[in-house]
Amino acid sequence: MEPYDCEGFVYGRGPMTPDIMIVGEAPGETEIHNGMPFSGRAGKVLNEFFNYIGVSRENIYFTSTVRSRPYKRVQKTKNNEVLIKKYNRAPTIKEQLAHAPILDYEMQHIKPKQIVTLGNVGLQRLVGKQYTISEVHGRLIHSQVRQLKDLETNEWTRTEEYYSIFPTFHPASIFYNRSLEKEIYKDLDKLKEQLHEK
Ligand code: URA
Repeated sequence: MEPYDCEGFVYGRGPMTPDIMIVGEAPGETEIHNGMPFSGRAGKVLNEFFNYIGVSRENIYFTSTVRSRPYKRVQKTKNNEVLIKKYNRAPTIKEQLAHAPILDYEMQHIKPKQIVTLGNVGLQRLVGKQYTISEVHGRLIHSQVRQLKDLETNEWTRTEEYYSIFPTFHPASIFYNRSLEKEIYKDLDKLKEQLHEK
């Protein structure tokens, strides 16, 4: 396996002053084919979350830590035929660094009332590795966010501005661990309250 295979490119999408800015991990196979963030299997689950909190997709800006699809090649045998299949994988730190200027730019120009990070990758990209999703999901974080200081040395700095960040689990996590769905809906109840206060 080549360790750093990536394919396609998906732009951020949504209004400049959204009610919510979603920061995900990286697009998957469906997204790199149609260019629409969160249009695949995880996107369908995410739509149910939006229905639950009563926010329309039109009022949401979608972005992610990495804009291409990181994948790994896995060899499978079907009917005595050897096939190479591509599977999604989490982006490496190097890939996150390579795509950092895009999210930095969006953080400076999009003015979301509320940022919602999905999973560990988006959360740690914005606020650092000391936060883990299992500990802080459903808790509002008011913080400056990480931005790349220097492309040559890969050093990070922090923005001057503070952002309101609400972390929850990635919708795809429930495919592997169904019990997380209950946790996510508890988080969504808190998010709903939070949005009403704004
Ligand atoms: N996860 C993401 O972060 N983005 C997508 O578009 C799909 C899944």
